[in-house]
Amino acid sequence: MELMEVIKQRISVRNYLPDPVPSEVLEEILEAGRLAPSAQNRQPWRYIVVQGTEQTAALAKHCGLIGLSNFFIKSAPLVIVACADSKANLRVNSQDYYLVDTAISFHQMILAATNHGLGTCWMAAFSEKILKKYLQLPPSWRVVALSPFGYPTENKGLYGKVLSAFAGSKDRLPLSKIVRYR
Ligand SMILES: Cc1cc2nc3c(=O)[nH]c(=O)nc-3n(C[C@H](O)[C@H](O)[C@H](O)COP(=O)(O)O)c2cc1C
Repeated sequence: MELMEVIKQRISVRNYLPDPVPSEVLEEILEAGRLAPSAQNRQPWRYIVVQGTEQTAALAKHCGLIGLSNFFIKSAPLVIVACADSKANLRVNSQDYYLVDTAISFHQMILAATNHGLGTCWMAAFSEKILKKYLQLPPSWRVVALSPFGYPTENKGLYGKVLSAFAGSKDRLPLSKIVRYR
């Protein structure tokens, strides 16, 4: 797909078929994340790949109370947990760039997955404390986000419809509101 087409195709998907993601596709997704730019090339991103609906269902149970809203990840054949090692942080202008770096890298993975017809959904609703304990992550790591990866079901499902309506997911601010020319 052409890049702009991939960007337009990506939407948050909350209904997945159990069909596995082919290993060569997974490799390409991970490679897309690996090649991302980062502040001073510190590459702080670290990824936990959770494969198989048994494993994703177990993960769904360890996202805490807030994570209950994202219980749909249990039906996905693959979930990737995006983490950032604070030991590889670059702090400039009071900003911690390891989180920015990881978001850039993870979104490259999400776009690569979209290019293969996979659905994804950025997710921030989880208890970092519970997830870190379950995944046995080092103390210096932060959990930035997680996303399911899988082929979408034909129907969006009621929950997906309600959530995207609630978030106004189709709306974007016009360029006139977000860009200033000097
Ligand atoms: C950082 C981030 C966190 C998000 N967290 C969640 C989440 O926890 N659960 C969820 O269902 N959607 C979550 N979303 C998806 C947003 O609701 C969605 O991206 C937005 O409404 C735009 O819709 P679209 O992705 O379909 O274009 C998150 C998105 C981002 C970028």
